[in-house]
Amino acid sequence: MPAKTLEQIVSLAKRRGFIFPSSDIYGGIGGFYDFGPLGVELKFNLKQAWWNDIVRMRDDVVGLNASIVMNPKVWESSGHVSGFSDPLVECKKCNQRFRADFLIAEASLGEAQVLDSTKLQQTVKELNLKCPNCGAKEWGDVRQFNLMFKTNVGPAEDTASVAYLRPETAAGIFVNFKNVLDTMRVRVPFGIAQIGKAFRNEVNPKDYIFRTREFEQMELEYFVKPGDDDKAFQEWIDLRFEWYEKIGLKNIRKFEQPKEELAHYSKGTTDIEYEFPFGWKEIEGIANRTDFDLKAHSKGSTQDLSYTDPEDPTNKFVPYVIEPSAGVDRILLAVLCDAYTEEDERVVLKLHPKLAPYKVAVFPLLKNKPELVEKARGIYTELKKYFNVAWDDRGNIGKRYFSQDEIGTPFCVTVDFDTLGEAGSDKKDTVTIRHRDSMKQERIAIADLKSFIEQSLSN
Ligand code: GAP
Repeated sequence: MPAKTLEQIVSLAKRRGFIFPSSDIYGGIGGFYDFGPLGVELKFNLKQAWWNDIVRMRDDVVGLNASIVMNPKVWESSGHVSGFSDPLVECKKCNQRFRADFLIAEASLGEAQVLDSTKLQQTVKELNLKCPNCGAKEWGDVRQFNLMFKTNVGPAEDTASVAYLRPETAAGIFVNFKNVLDTMRVRVPFGIAQIGKAFRNEVNPKDYIFRTREFEQMELEYFVKPGDDDKAFQEWIDLRFEWYEKIGLKNIRKFEQPKEELAHYSKGTTDIEYEFPFGWKEIEGIANRTDFDLKAHSKGSTQDLSYTDPEDPTNKFVPYVIEPSAGVDRILLAVLCDAYTEEDERVVLKLHPKLAPYKVAVFPLLKNKPELVEKARGIYTELKKYFNVAWDDRGNIGKRYFSQDEIGTPFCVTVDFDTLGEAGSDKKDTVTIRHRDSMKQERIAIADLKSFIEQSLSN
């Protein structure tokens, strides 16, 4: 199969109701997307697979759902008000603004480097960069642009009412550390996990839903005793890599960030990268955040955020934190790219059954035979109690198969005259089940359908 392009994925995602540009009928809005009826199912399944693995299957992790808007002091303590910015440069001719590091990386065909504004300014000049919009070569000064979206809380629009939409979900966890410690029977090492929206006013949102201004994160803050952090860091890198393998994602690798490029809070970060049509890119970062956050919020709030070992009250410390931080939208894009397959006459999304929006589609062989429709409808209604099930009675069976292949439905079930036991058929109460990837068909008892599908989801 020839290399997949992002255009193929975008086209399928729009055509089949996975992803639409936000406020499409008004011409959209840069960096925002909507998830359609199938996209929302895929997203839900991804989040559920993560939540099961990180929270439900473990004894040492609990969940949380914090508010998006928090006391603005949170972002002062975390360093986001002063330091969460990207270098921005403006074309003097057309006034378009760009990320200086991205412009340089594109011109030198490398990855974006973390450089200070002065060095970026010099490099923009040295490389004699052209504006991607108008071609001019006249640039303003490189300046830092804070990525947090500002809003006002309450009716007054003054500095006292300024608040921010959270740029990461992590802070909600740190500020609830004491609440969780005081209310749950947790002991270090333990983790708090959260899935939720985050907002960043990205200078150049790009690559479809890869870099957007509103996205969802799945973050775990895993608290450990100082000294145990290096081991826990390595364990989480391996666990997270294995999770991607479990959901069937191929073309992934680990990438250790160079020390000089680490975020201000990090002692070490390893990214999990996926090979997108536009190159190897981060879908998740696993960071050793040390005791930076708890200490910073302890200072900012004047609350004691240390931990006392219940077995040994003299052993009091501020825990270190290992943070696996993943973006739902980026993983979803990786999953779509990975699953997209073109074969002779069909497009197939080879999604893991766990992730597929529909687990099974049920068809009556013919739409105008009420006894077939009634029987198929009964199977459909019964299976719907347990799974998301599709119904299709349009066109011929071949077309229905291809339509389900394109949205990744792993199984199609057809009710025919044998199912009804007509003409003395010994296949009464059996159906044809057709496998998406191999296109093989087999006969199976209606009574076994549920366990057959369950089996495919547990692999
Ligand atoms: N709490 C740490 C943190 O937020 P990050 O590397 O900035 O770290 C973590 O973000 C993950 O969030 C990334 O690996 C990516 O999957 C996702 N992410 C970050 N910015 C994004 C954006 N603008 N659009 C979509 N996903 C984004």
